[in-house]
Amino acid sequence: MKAWGGRFKGTTDPLMERYSASIDFDWVLFEYDIEGSKAHAEMLQKIGILSEKERDDIAGALDEIKVEIKEGQFIFSTAMEDIHMHIEARLIEKIGDAGKRLHTGRSRNDQVSLDMRMYLKDELARVNGCLHSLLKAFIDKSEQEKSAIMPGYTHMQRAQVIPFSHYLMAYYYMFKRDRERLRTVRTAIDVLPLGSGALAGSTIPLDREFVRERLGFSRVSENSMDAVADRDFVIDALFSITAIMIHLSRLSEDLIIFSTEEFAFISLPDELCTGSSLMPHKKNPDALELTRGKTSRVMGDLFSMLSLLKGLPMTYNRDLQEDKEPLFHALNTVKDALSIMALCVEGMQTNRKRMEAAAYGSFMPAVEMAEYLTLKGMPFREAHGIVGKLVRDCEEKEMPLLSMNIAEMRTYSAMFEDDIFEYIDPRKILSNRKTDGAASFAEVEKELDAEKIYLSY
Ligand code: ARG
Repeated sequence: MKAWGGRFKGTTDPLMERYSASIDFDWVLFEYDIEGSKAHAEMLQKIGILSEKERDDIAGALDEIKVEIKEGQFIFSTAMEDIHMHIEARLIEKIGDAGKRLHTGRSRNDQVSLDMRMYLKDELARVNGCLHSLLKAFIDKSEQEKSAIMPGYTHMQRAQVIPFSHYLMAYYYMFKRDRERLRTVRTAIDVLPLGSGALAGSTIPLDREFVRERLGFSRVSENSMDAVADRDFVIDALFSITAIMIHLSRLSEDLIIFSTEEFAFISLPDELCTGSSLMPHKKNPDALELTRGKTSRVMGDLFSMLSLLKGLPMTYNRDLQEDKEPLFHALNTVKDALSIMALCVEGMQTNRKRMEAAAYGSFMPAVEMAEYLTLKGMPFREAHGIVGKLVRDCEEKEMPLLSMNIAEMRTYSAMFEDDIFEYIDPRKILSNRKTDGAASFAEVEKELDAEKIYLSY
């Protein structure tokens, strides 16, 4: 007999049962469902609906059910639809009438929102832990590679020389921002919906404040209809996860390119690569490609959730059951993808010689050449033009910028003097940049000092 059986004459079609069941995926909420029910029972006792014995019987039986589920002894069936019904039915099977009183003043509509919020709080703490490990990996790698230099790119063209550690720290700050974003999502989640009932609250004087305190929420929801209809916190969580995945995907793309034979700036750890079934020489960056690929699916998860809500009338509608799979999938993916990336950053080897050669054998110091003239008083636009012409001529003569002598330089501008060579030496440039946050050795030191403190608390 179904929980709503009283209203129905016929039985549910087996196809409908299968169509309607969410137990295959929402069973993961069981510990939260049980914790929420225990708090609800304590409150019902406090307001006189349950006796102390009934409350204790409920708590004891719920604990047993938790063990049954954990140990794989609990029998799930599509006929019982979702995790909430399964636990309630088993409770009644175990303790009879007391179990039947538990659902007083409660609906699965406020119950499922509660479970999702509790689950998400814990899961986001885990994502935060994975982010922390990745941030740590960036710091450690930056420390190890403090002296490595490389070209920085815009439009995938060599643009300006940078310390490799500055490049790594750029990603560090991206992921640090993701951590801050997760913190704001936690605030949105941290609202107790229980006590809102199906949509309108109850004539029974439920003590919501007691339940809030007991379950560790900061606030209670202010409008019962909003409470059961709201899944904004799921959107917020999915957006934050998607942002993390997009960042991971960008980094994956970089590392894939940097590990090609053409670049050969880095080599990826063997443990994260696979070979080819046909080509004996291949070492493929599959882990990173998978992250790039999985990012698309997580973006799909976010989009599923957005479109789920866009036409949904007030208040709860069954469509909302479809919030779970995208959320669960996104969470599982992002935790793995972050852990994989931490291993990758820790384990990658850098080819400092190749990076350094790329930094020295390019026209990148043209920027500093123009800045040199500017500091000597030439208007920047004019300096840009002169150095542009100089570069073009070098290119025509197939001559590296750094091999030009002072006499040749002075045919472009008499302002060039012997100190220009020091000014455009790539390593010297990295000691000479003056602006806050610049790609310079000194700024990287500052970044590392500050961020080691940030990561330590
Ligand atoms: N399994 C449902 C969900 O995830 C629980 C709420 C069902 N409520 C209802 N009135 N049918 O949304």
